[in-house]
Amino acid sequence: MAEELNISQSLSKEEKYKALLPQIQALISGESDLIANMANVAAAIHMATNYLWVGFYLVKQDELVLGPFQGPIACTRIQKGKGVCGAAWATKQTQIVPDVDAFPGHIACSSDSKSEVVVLGIKEGEVEFVFDVDSSKLNELDEIDAHFFEQVVALL
Ligand code: SME
Repeated sequence: MAEELNISQSLSKEEKYKALLPQIQALISGESDLIANMANVAAAIHMATNYLWVGFYLVKQDELVLGPFQGPIACTRIQKGKGVCGAAWATKQTQIVPDVDAFPGHIACSSDSKSEVVVLGIKEGEVEFVFDVDSSKLNELDEIDAHFFEQVVALL
């Protein structure tokens, strides 16, 4: 397993993600444990992007429960339909939020979060987990991020 990611900070977002995807694939390919792979995915994306918060919430009974993440401490449980994560779970739709203050019911785990993307991990038609990324900049997270995060989650 490589110890470092090979990502130039001068690349565009698309170029950076194109270079990062095979490295993430290599990072998790030899390991079958979901939590271990989530932990390394969160670390790799946090290292490569410097986004504020990168992590997972797992569906456990009727709640989302905090999983592996990198960034500031976070809310541990989220109800279905609540916040951006709960909305992604309830609607089974990726959520792209350029301005979290404009999202009704957004849960502010960190007041530094300004934009957010949540994508879904689906197993046998049911949401197994959500992958949540927060940026401290307005409008920083967009369709390009969402598409990349969907590709990453598909590897898990
Ligand atoms: N903002 C999220 C809560 C999780 S934190 O961002 C880590 C939400 O509204 O669901």
